[in-house]
Amino acid sequence: MTARRGAALTGTVQVPGDKSISHRALMFGLLTVGETTITGLLEGEDVINTAKVCRALGARVEQTGPGAWTVHGVGVGGLVEPAESLDFGNSGTGCRLMMGVVGAHPIRATFDGDASLRKRPMRRALDPLELFGLTVVSQAEGGRLPITTQGPKDAVPVVYESPVASAQVKSAVLLAGLNAPGVTTVIEKEATRDHTERMLTHFGAEVTVTPHGEHGRRIDLVGQPELKPAPVIVPADPSSAAFPMVAAAIVPGSDVTITGVMMNPLRTGLFTTLVEMGAEIEILNARVESGEDVADLRVRGSKLTGVDVPAHRAPSMIDEYPVLAVAAAFAEGPTRMRGLHELRVKESDRLAAVAAGLAAAGVDHTIEGDDLIVAGNGKVPGGGTVETHMDHRIAMSFLVMGLGTTQPMTVDDTAFIATSFPDFTGLMRGLGADFS
Ligand code: S3P
Repeated sequence: MTARRGAALTGTVQVPGDKSISHRALMFGLLTVGETTITGLLEGEDVINTAKVCRALGARVEQTGPGAWTVHGVGVGGLVEPAESLDFGNSGTGCRLMMGVVGAHPIRATFDGDASLRKRPMRRALDPLELFGLTVVSQAEGGRLPITTQGPKDAVPVVYESPVASAQVKSAVLLAGLNAPGVTTVIEKEATRDHTERMLTHFGAEVTVTPHGEHGRRIDLVGQPELKPAPVIVPADPSSAAFPMVAAAIVPGSDVTITGVMMNPLRTGLFTTLVEMGAEIEILNARVESGEDVADLRVRGSKLTGVDVPAHRAPSMIDEYPVLAVAAAFAEGPTRMRGLHELRVKESDRLAAVAAGLAAAGVDHTIEGDDLIVAGNGKVPGGGTVETHMDHRIAMSFLVMGLGTTQPMTVDDTAFIATSFPDFTGLMRGLGADFS
């Protein structure tokens, strides 16, 4: 698909439901006896795969309308041993969180995914799960998928200080802790998205969160609760809103409003950074919906300036660096993004994929250690083709870039956009984007 520079982008849009919350809503439904209703579920491929896996583990999962789903779960301790291997497609979140859900149950399960997911590290989730008593029966080289695990007859609770700033690892431990007697504790040095903790409380589990060090948290969960069905309303995904936001900021004269965007402070790093860069973003109708901060964001074509993005901000915008690199290319002066090592283990090696995309667009940049520096010297010629490497966010980021470059930008594969934002091209065209 090719993106071309055209007229200003204008209009009001709603992006799909948050991917992190959508996965978790289904899993909590599985772990709850009775009916959980979900509205605004992201119906992207990643989440649909999680729904199928919930069925394989014993839940009845049904779509009742657009974005409206019900889950009749089996409860903590009630999972059924799956007959077939569990296929998570492209989704690290689905796979690692479900390893936690399954990990403290006395069942055998095989986890698998597509070629991208088969390259990603799974030991980060399995290491703490082994402490509960899980046995890894088989794994591909380097702790990769496919992986077969056997859960313990009686799990023991765990105290785990995570060596990586990862909400997936934290969540895997907490979800396993649900089926262990006593208190399971996770300590994270850098606070990561806290949707699992919030949902645990929402479904009636006893969980306490306390600050730990300068940027970290300690989470204590009392195991073996009886979760109570609770309705989940999924707010719009800030990681998807990032694309129309940056597009509006880089295309002169644009005026775009994105409604109902989740503004959980552990997800708003891109917003903070764009504001620091001088982006004209207005927060409208700030409100709380279903326990999450939500607002409408009005973004106008803006004159951006390069900034220094601190490493400790990375967890709050970990999925937004590709599109931030695009914004940085249009800014005046260098943008330094620090501490990006986790980008190397996403759906692709995103540091390498972003650098290659910037090179294809003729944008000056360097990588120093784990930092990416985009020169911001006014040169954004475009005219190249970007390899997406089975990574939805690489595809969407460079299509956004092509709306501002002098020459069009092409991405080699748009198929993976369906994992997180199925109507991305339709929504962007509705704002005036020239994609063909
Ligand atoms: C997610 C956590 C992040 C993020 C992913 C969603 C989650 O991954 O990149 O898209 O829902 O917990 P890590 O935990 O690997 O940083």
